[in-house]
Amino acid sequence: MSLDTTRHAPDPAPREVAPIPDPGVEEHLPRYTDTDERAGRRAYRQIVALYGLSPLLAIAAIVVYFAVPTTLSFELGSETIRVHHALFGLLVGLAILCIGVGSVHWAKTVMADTEVVEERHELASSPQDREIVAEQFAAGTEESGIGRRKLLGVSLAGALGTVALPPLVMLADMGPWPIASTRKETIEKTLWAEGVYLVTDVTYRRIRASEVPLNELVNAQPENLQDLHGAEFQQAKAKASIIIVRMDPNRIQVPESRRDWNVGGIQCYSKICTHVGCPVNLFERQTGHLLCPCHQSTFDLGNSGVVIFGPAGRSLPQLPITTDQDGYLVARSDFTVPVGPSYFERDSTGDYEEGDR
Ligand code: FES
Repeated sequence: MSLDTTRHAPDPAPREVAPIPDPGVEEHLPRYTDTDERAGRRAYRQIVALYGLSPLLAIAAIVVYFAVPTTLSFELGSETIRVHHALFGLLVGLAILCIGVGSVHWAKTVMADTEVVEERHELASSPQDREIVAEQFAAGTEESGIGRRKLLGVSLAGALGTVALPPLVMLADMGPWPIASTRKETIEKTLWAEGVYLVTDVTYRRIRASEVPLNELVNAQPENLQDLHGAEFQQAKAKASIIIVRMDPNRIQVPESRRDWNVGGIQCYSKICTHVGCPVNLFERQTGHLLCPCHQSTFDLGNSGVVIFGPAGRSLPQLPITTDQDGYLVARSDFTVPVGPSYFERDSTGDYEEGDR
C-alpha cells in the first residue's frame, strides 16, 4: 500500500463576484425609411417589384420545363451539365429568393419599427393574456401595412401561389407508366445484342476468353457504348454494365436453358443489384458468392446468380456470351430479363426460365 504524501495547497478564499451591470436598452435610431418619406415609398415599390418578379420566374421555369430538351447539355470541366435541369433549378431558386428578399425588406423598412419591452411571466398564459396576444396580432397586422397597402398582400399571395406551381409540374417526370410496350423499349432493352464485343471498363479493350483470370471479377461494358455521349451515354452505361467471372466449370450448376451461356466457366452478370440498383462488386472466391455493399443481398454466381441472402427479390440477370473465331468474348443476345431493381417488372414473374428467379 502506498501513501499519498503530496501536499495540497489550501483552497483560496471565495472571491466576491460583482454583478454585471444592466446595459439597458440601446438607443433607438430611426430608419431611413422612417425619416425620408420618398425612401419609404421607394422601399415599398421595391418589395412589390420583388413579389411581382417571383411569379414571372416561376412561369419561366414552367416554360423551360416543357420547352428545353432534356438531352441538351454542355461540359463544364469534367462535369456534364444538363441545360434543362440547371435552368429549371435556377429559375425556381430565384423565384423563391425574390419572395425571401422581399419579405426581409418589408420587415426591415416598411413594418412599424417600435421597440417593445416584455416582462417575463408564467409559462402558462391566462385567458386575458391570450386576448392581449390576439389584440397585438391584430395591431401587428395593421402595422405591417397590409391593411392599407393592399397591393403588398395581393402580390405576396400571388407570388407564393405561383411559386408552388413548378414543383407540381415536376410530377410529370413520374410518367410514363411502365406498361409492357414502354418496358420493351426502355428498361427491358440495353446496348447488348448478338455479336456485341465485351470490352474492359474505361479503356474499352476487347477481352479474350484466355485473359480472364480464375475467380476474379472483371468489370466490362458493351463495345458500342463508346458511340454515345452525355446523358445518353450515362443512361446506357447504367443499364449495360456487367461483371465477368471465370469459375471452375465443375463448381457451376447450369440450368438446361443456359447450357451455352458461358465459355468454359466464364459467366457474365449484370452489375446492377436487383434490390434497388447499387453496383455489386464484392466477390467471395471460396464460395462464388457476390455481395451487394448497400443492403448485403448475396447472389450465388455458381448457381445462375440466385439470391441466397438479403432483400433482393430476384436473381442477378445473366448475359449469354460466346467467343468469336479469335477467342474474343461477344454477347449472344441482350439480357433475357430486365436488369435493375425488381419493382420495375413485378407483373412479369411468368416470363422467367429456370434459374432466372
Ligand atoms: S441495393 Fe443491393 S441489396 Fe439493396
